[in-house]
Amino acid sequence: MNQPIDRRDLLKAGLGVAAAGALAPAASAQPKETIRVGFVGVGGRGTNLMRILLKLPGVKMNALCDINEANLARAQKFVVDAGQPKPEGYSRGETDFLRLCGRDDLDLVVNATPWQYHTPIAVAAMKAGKDTATEVPAALTVEECWELVETSEKTGKVCSLLENDCYYRETLLILTMIRAGVLGEPLYAEAGYLHDIRAVKFNTVPNGEPWRLDHTIRRNGNLYPTHPMGPMAWWLDINRGDRLTSLVSMSSRPGAMKEFAIKNFGPDDYRSKTDYKLGDTSVTLLRTEMGRTFTLWHNTNTPRVKEHLLRIQGTKGVFNSLMDKAFVEGRSNRNNDENWRGRHEWEETAEYRKQYDSKLWRTREEEAKGSGHGGIDFFVMSRLIQNLRAGKPVDIDVYDAAAWSVITPLTEVSVANRSKPMEIPDFTRGKWKLRAPIDPDLIV
Ligand SMILES: NC(=O)c1ccc[n+]([C@@H]2O[C@H](COP(=O)([O-])OP(=O)(O)OC[C@H]3O[C@@H](n4cnc5c(N)ncnc54)[C@H](O)[C@@H]3O)[C@@H](O)[C@H]2O)c1
Repeated sequence: MNQPIDRRDLLKAGLGVAAAGALAPAASAQPKETIRVGFVGVGGRGTNLMRILLKLPGVKMNALCDINEANLARAQKFVVDAGQPKPEGYSRGETDFLRLCGRDDLDLVVNATPWQYHTPIAVAAMKAGKDTATEVPAALTVEECWELVETSEKTGKVCSLLENDCYYRETLLILTMIRAGVLGEPLYAEAGYLHDIRAVKFNTVPNGEPWRLDHTIRRNGNLYPTHPMGPMAWWLDINRGDRLTSLVSMSSRPGAMKEFAIKNFGPDDYRSKTDYKLGDTSVTLLRTEMGRTFTLWHNTNTPRVKEHLLRIQGTKGVFNSLMDKAFVEGRSNRNNDENWRGRHEWEETAEYRKQYDSKLWRTREEEAKGSGHGGIDFFVMSRLIQNLRAGKPVDIDVYDAAAWSVITPLTEVSVANRSKPMEIPDFTRGKWKLRAPIDPDLIV
């Protein structure tokens, strides 16, 4: 097994910045005062993100695209209300984003459409000479993941993933603790997307996403891996000193979707007679080149409270967000004697939260207040724009987008073949060995 590079040494030595610059697939090389944006898909999510962009300094919203004319008009009004000229609208069908990408007054194309459009829009934007940022997941197939990587490398354009979970206070607290060496060498992490969105899929709530149902009917595996994978990848330096190498996946049989349909729409409704392929609970085990492992959960079908499970185990201790407890050897069990008599007892996390709160949250919490998902939606957009304006590499680049998104198609094959082990491609083609780890301060 390879010896892990000490990432803290790399950061301390200042190699981080140099290596990140040299090995990033594409940084917007020139600093820019203004980022001229074209936004595709202004439904529930896109409208929220677009409104965050409108509040950021140095953003001009020049064009909007949505196949739904009412959504488009609503978004145009938000732009005008924010004091900018009415952006040109594109709504001539599902490939009208091509015309938007062809404009010569855009630097960045942001995309919050349903999943199947993410790669086509990102690729069209890069080929037209624009940086791009896409909602999660970036791609649906292994081929699409490679297409994103190859297009970004060939065009020199940024392809970022808008993975907001990377910016949770908790994600960055744990990252800061890891960098400080509190947990020792991190060897295992566990997280999941455990969120009952039956009503969203069946579109019985105002913020419904009817297009998601089709995926639940046709596909079985981990359909939404990037929310939990993003934070864990940052903690364990995936693509930045280590890389994902293989996975195995297993799904329970489906049950709850049909029961929901029968209860809410009656036994004769077509949705009650539909066979849902997506297993209710999906669990995936992944391993890395350095011999670290992850457990990744996915469950969007069953009645439950949303669980924000984040667990990280290192050689010196464990941090469990759901329990809000930690155990750190020599600190949590300081009353033990040297012969290990005494008990291992959980410690409250309050002191760790005070001591290791990330710089981003300590210094910018006020700015993020009121934005979606407790502030992380502000940070994901603001970090993107700040990095592009400064001409610096983005926090989440095309290699991350591909490695985190490819989990879905690989789990589908694994599940369909009695949990067959699947190789995970090295989208960096070896560059993971030298790319700098994420700097937890995240300050431009
Ligand atoms: N990161 C997060 O926390 C988060 C939260 C919610 C949704 N999302 C992601 O955001 C994306 C959008 O989700 P949503 O909830 O806004 O869905 P939505 O259905 O509310 O919005 C999608 C919008 O895209 C438009 N659209 C569809 N096809 C299009 C096309 N070809 N060209 C242009 N516009 C098109 C639709 O008319 C609609 O306005 C999804 O990928 C979803 O996974 C992410």
